[in-house]
Amino acid sequence: MKALQARIRKVHKSDIDRVVDIERSWHHLSHWSVDSYYRLINEDSFTSSFVAEIEEDGRNMIIVGFVIFHIAADVSEIYNIAVESSYARLGIGKQLMIAAIDESRRRDAARVVLEVRKSNASAINFYVNFGFRTVGERKNYYSNPIEDAYVMERETD
Ligand SMILES: CC(C)(COP(=O)(O)OP(=O)(O)OC[C@H]1O[C@@H](n2cnc3c(N)ncnc32)[C@H](O)[C@@H]1OP(=O)(O)O)[C@@H](O)C(=O)NCCC(=O)NCCS
Repeated sequence: MKALQARIRKVHKSDIDRVVDIERSWHHLSHWSVDSYYRLINEDSFTSSFVAEIEEDGRNMIIVGFVIFHIAADVSEIYNIAVESSYARLGIGKQLMIAAIDESRRRDAARVVLEVRKSNASAINFYVNFGFRTVGERKNYYSNPIEDAYVMERETD
């Protein structure tokens, strides 16, 4: 299918409800609390968040995806990335990931790391296609349901 061109911009506090809706559009995945999103997006200056917007009906911009990541020293950690399920597989996640990697490089991070549920095959495939390698595992890292995580990483250049 043809890729959708999105506009990537920094998240605003007023976007948080929409970010929560997007994450919840994936019914089979466990969800973060609304408070976690407020804390991350509002309070921590090392955390960056971008949203992807597209024009709907040729008029209004709607948010269809987001990425939240945190840069400390030379490591950038992706906390969460999601695209509204009805807009999946249209290249939106790719545009968000490119923006996150570019921003990480700009802020002198040498590597990008992330954790992913072992059962999340589509996300793992998405990351592998971005050049992420599995570098470790974390036992019982996730709750609801409890599951191990793969740790994946790639360089920023
Ligand atoms: C992972 C996610 C963000 C990808 O976003 P997306 O916009 O659908 O991805 P893109 O269209 O940019 O896909 C880029 C490439 O990733 C891979 N990919 C994406 N979705 C895939 C799927 N369901 N199955 C297999 N490969 C997939 C493909 O290689 C794809 O390229 P292609 O479509 O040309 O084959 C999205 O599936 C999502 O929101 N998942 C639910 C939330 C989640 O699991 N987040 C990760 C938490 S660790």
